[in-house]
Amino acid sequence: MLNLGVLASGRGSNFQSIIDSIEAGRLKASVKLLITDKSDAYAAERAKKHSIEHLYINPKDFTNKDVFYEKIAGELSARGVELVVLAGFMRVVRKPLIERFPNRIMNIHPALLPSFPGLHGQQQAADYGVRISGCTVHFVDEGMDTGPVIVQAAVPVSPEDTEDTLSKRILKLEHKIFPEAIRLFAEGRLSVEGRIVKIRGYCVDEDACLLNPPL
Ligand code: GRF
Repeated sequence: MLNLGVLASGRGSNFQSIIDSIEAGRLKASVKLLITDKSDAYAAERAKKHSIEHLYINPKDFTNKDVFYEKIAGELSARGVELVVLAGFMRVVRKPLIERFPNRIMNIHPALLPSFPGLHGQQQAADYGVRISGCTVHFVDEGMDTGPVIVQAAVPVSPEDTEDTLSKRILKLEHKIFPEAIRLFAEGRLSVEGRIVKIRGYCVDEDACLLNPPL
């Protein structure tokens, strides 16, 4: 059973998809702690509903960002967390947390990295006029959405798409691939070589859509 710590800033629909996968028995994991950095994050309500411990940690209570991340790292370590999941955590994570959990922090980004990193990945894709976008689960390094890619899934983009319509289409896939990536980790199937993530027992179905290989 894998011990998870989740960091979120907002509504927490990805957090919910992880809870649902655990409760459905698809993911052998347990969420030990939710940490939010915003006092009104709806993710906190979800934790309460599912009896998951929650801490609100206000970044303004700390003299600098490194001390804030040391506090977070300490709380996660104290609960035996093995994998940290950024589920809509709207901050660039810093060294004190990354060094405590090397290649053990995952993030979901709503675009096909390395395209459209940073905020509003869906808006960036719609504005650029690409025909395909999607979402990416990756390990976290010190850059902005630059860490090794674990899984990706693609959606078509229409010229009529707005940030809102594209975000909804992408979000449905986020809710599938994030728990799947965590499951691969929980099953011990991921290893990182440089910036390549090897997945044991992963094969691309050449006859299916190459962009969405089965996990
Ligand atoms: C998602 O689109 C995720 O890709 C991005 O932030 C959003 C969070 O949504 N990192 P939610 O809070 O999980 O509903």
